[in-house]
Amino acid sequence: MKLRLRLPTGFAWVFATAFVLCSTATFSAAPAFAAAPNRVTSIFKPLSTPAQAVYEISLLALAICGAIFLVVGGLLAYTIVRFRRRPGDEVREPPQVYGSNQIELAWTVIPILIVFVLILATARTIYDVQGAIPPADALNATVVGHQWWWEIRYPKLGIVTANELHVPVSEMSKRRPTFLKLESADVAHSFWVPQLAGKTDVIPNRENVMWIEPTQPGTYVGNCAEYCGMQHARMLLRVIVHPPEDFERWLAAQQKPPVDDPQMAAGRDVFFTTSCINCHAIRGTKAVGKFGPDLTHLMSRQTLGAGVVANTEENLQTWVRDPQHIKPGALMPNMQLTDDELNRIVGYLLTLK
Ligand code: CUA
Repeated sequence: MKLRLRLPTGFAWVFATAFVLCSTATFSAAPAFAAAPNRVTSIFKPLSTPAQAVYEISLLALAICGAIFLVVGGLLAYTIVRFRRRPGDEVREPPQVYGSNQIELAWTVIPILIVFVLILATARTIYDVQGAIPPADALNATVVGHQWWWEIRYPKLGIVTANELHVPVSEMSKRRPTFLKLESADVAHSFWVPQLAGKTDVIPNRENVMWIEPTQPGTYVGNCAEYCGMQHARMLLRVIVHPPEDFERWLAAQQKPPVDDPQMAAGRDVFFTTSCINCHAIRGTKAVGKFGPDLTHLMSRQTLGAGVVANTEENLQTWVRDPQHIKPGALMPNMQLTDDELNRIVGYLLTLK
């Protein structure tokens, strides 16, 4: 006697079609390998050693899970179609079968073996990524998560900047990884630049570490990956990877104190007599605030408000007039500046190249 299920044939076809579509979608999403870092946010286009390791293990896990999906879904679809109810079938319960040592052994042992393979492969990748020993000449940076921007310090180089991590490119002939310490000034954040490495949480009162080793120059984008309040979604991050000589140039420019332009003395005076200096620092001046981004080389950065708008004179003006207009909830208040004060301050800020 044949087993008969009480499923309508139509359902079987819908299921089979959905199954085929899903499996096609799963595999057509498979990666085009290692494109240029054209502001891509895909873990399937790794351009850094730890990201490559994570990518490889994810392919293995996807392949194994995909195979399981095909086998289980295929058998299910076959069964539904093959044993569907047909006109003229007897209306009674099919024979009930209990206990088969072979089958039970198979569906216990095979999954254990699969899980074991995944555990071993994952453990090896975790060891490769987390156990990496920094070379003596590796670049070190400290990234501090704030609501809602990133402070970036290079303790050995005396540089503090914001929202843009500049690093040299790593080459076959000379590896130049960057090791990061991650700290938080307030709540939990998460540092994530998909092409460079996996996510790492940024936790208050704790120091996490990670590393990146980009293999192509360019701009890599990322963002905070842990909900941290109102502007979490606009806590963006750029990693700018330079060829070695370029990086040295950037370094030298950042290490210089800002040029004091006497024509901007009026603007500077307004800046130093308002509360701006309670939150912001400008190296070599009496502005030593720690709460907001360091402004020493403000105009060398690409964006304002952690990636919210391009860093242009017009946007800077709008931002200083009322940050809440561009980024509601930002912790920088509207300073209620007069037009004259605003123009002077922005004039001064524009000299901080
Ligand atoms: Cu910081 Cu989400």
